[in-house]
Amino acid sequence: MTAMVLTVSDRSARGERPDAAGPLVAQLLEDAGFTVVRTAIVPDERPQIEAALTAAADSGEVELLVTTGGTGFSPRDVTPEATLAVCERLTPGIPEAMRYASLRITPRAMLSRAQAGIRKGTLIVNLPGSPKAARENLEAVLPALPHGLKMLLGNTEDCARLP
Ligand code: MTE
Repeated sequence: MTAMVLTVSDRSARGERPDAAGPLVAQLLEDAGFTVVRTAIVPDERPQIEAALTAAADSGEVELLVTTGGTGFSPRDVTPEATLAVCERLTPGIPEAMRYASLRITPRAMLSRAQAGIRKGTLIVNLPGSPKAARENLEAVLPALPHGLKMLLGNTEDCARLP
């Protein structure tokens, strides 16, 4: 399974702060059996986020696209809006599960507005921006993602028989 990690951060895009969460997310995905074929950093600008998401999804090269950053309440946090704008179908169970698991760790988990959805053959999942939050949220949903991706990619076998 192929994956892309998109870091959404004004400061990292300007080179003012090293991207810590993106490489961590990429490593977690590799550890889970994904091949990370692309990574990128964009500022908290809707047009640039949407362009990066659509280019990757429409290329057909990326089955899972994970974003990190821009899910909070700051006026610059627009990753969820960009994600909603480009997705054809939403997958609300994924952010529900992330917040359910994360609320056991911190009440601040409710402050993440992360979304997830499908565009063509790509599942897009938002994560918060701090490495700690990105890890905790990703680990909450990672075990279920390969099964969902198999179905997305046209595997019509009975769910009960798929690993
Ligand atoms: N989820 C987990 N599991 N652990 C965390 O530490 N931090 C929260 C939340 N989700 C957190 C978390 C905080 S403090 C914020 S502001 C939101 O994620 C949004 O983060 P972002 O603006 O970096 O995307």
